[in-house]
Amino acid sequence: MTLMSAAPVPLLLLCFVSRTCAVNITSTPGANGAGVVQVQLNGAVTLTCTAEAADGELVWLRNGATVSLREQNKKASSSLCVTPAIHEDNDATFTCHLGSNASETASVTLNVTYPPQASGSEQVAVEKEAQLLLQCDIWANPPVSSVAWTLNGSVVDLVAGGFTVTNDGFSSWLQVHRADQSLHEGTYQCTAHYSINGTHPVPGTYSKEFQVTVTEKTLKFPMMPMIAGVVVVFLTSLLAVVSRWKTITKCCK
Ligand SMILES: *[C@@H]1O[C@H](CO)[C@@H](O)[C@H](O)[C@H]1NC(C)=O
Ligand SMILES: *[C@@H]1O[C@H](CO)[C@@H](O)[C@H](O)[C@H]1NC(C)=O
Ligand SMILES: *[C@@H]1O[C@H](CO)[C@@H](O)[C@H](O)[C@H]1NC(C)=O
Repeated sequence: MTLMSAAPVPLLLLCFVSRTCAVNITSTPGANGAGVVQVQLNGAVTLTCTAEAADGELVWLRNGATVSLREQNKKASSSLCVTPAIHEDNDATFTCHLGSNASETASVTLNVTYPPQASGSEQVAVEKEAQLLLQCDIWANPPVSSVAWTLNGSVVDLVAGGFTVTNDGFSSWLQVHRADQSLHEGTYQCTAHYSINGTHPVPGTYSKEFQVTVTEKTLKFPMMPMIAGVVVVFLTSLLAVVSRWKTITKCCK
């Protein structure tokens, strides 16, 4: 009973000018009351626009740009398949209207959900006193609710270890300016908590491990002074050739 009466509601709401609906969109999976269709990354969405007038020719727009349609997919009813749904399809709006009259439109917006990418294990070797930087991919839709860093199983002590943690929405970074073996060697783990409500429950924790070793400093070949030296020698000889060439050309006149 509730199911039967609930089903037509999204269809009516997709029609923005309500008196007479010239065009209507139905979608699989269905849209919510706000005209948002939720789909998992790499999933598929089918959108069908129908015109009230049987001879009406239809036009589809994706974010305002016309979608090219085959001739047989225009009259009275027109379907679009978005498959696979990619990151760029998130928030994309699909609008349908009659080719002869653009004043009445119907639209749906896609909500492409994806979990964070943090996974696996990585070996990281850092020299004593060098910078240690660990990156954990946490980009997700909806965004992860929290990110935690541990060292040897305990929450990273930011103050004692001189760590800084930053988060730009795509990655969480754990940073140490000067690595010290006794403070910083060990097994790190970042853990992101991701949960999603609605019809696709894939909640959980996503984590990545880092096996960090702090190595002795190696004597690096002094590259920069050497490059500077080479440049000076080259410029000096170039100058010598140029000034000499001037006298040579003078002689030839
Ligand atoms: C377009 O449709 C609207 C609403 O149905 C109507 O008021 C308007 O006159 C139509 N315009 C044209 C050019 O047919
Ligand atoms: C973490 O554990 C490893 C292996 O037991 C140990 O060598 C290292 O010193 C520990 N790191 C810290 C910061 O306690
Ligand atoms: C997309 O779907 C997720 C999961 O249901 C929800 O948390 C999020 O708010 C939705 N985003 C938009 C823009 O509707």
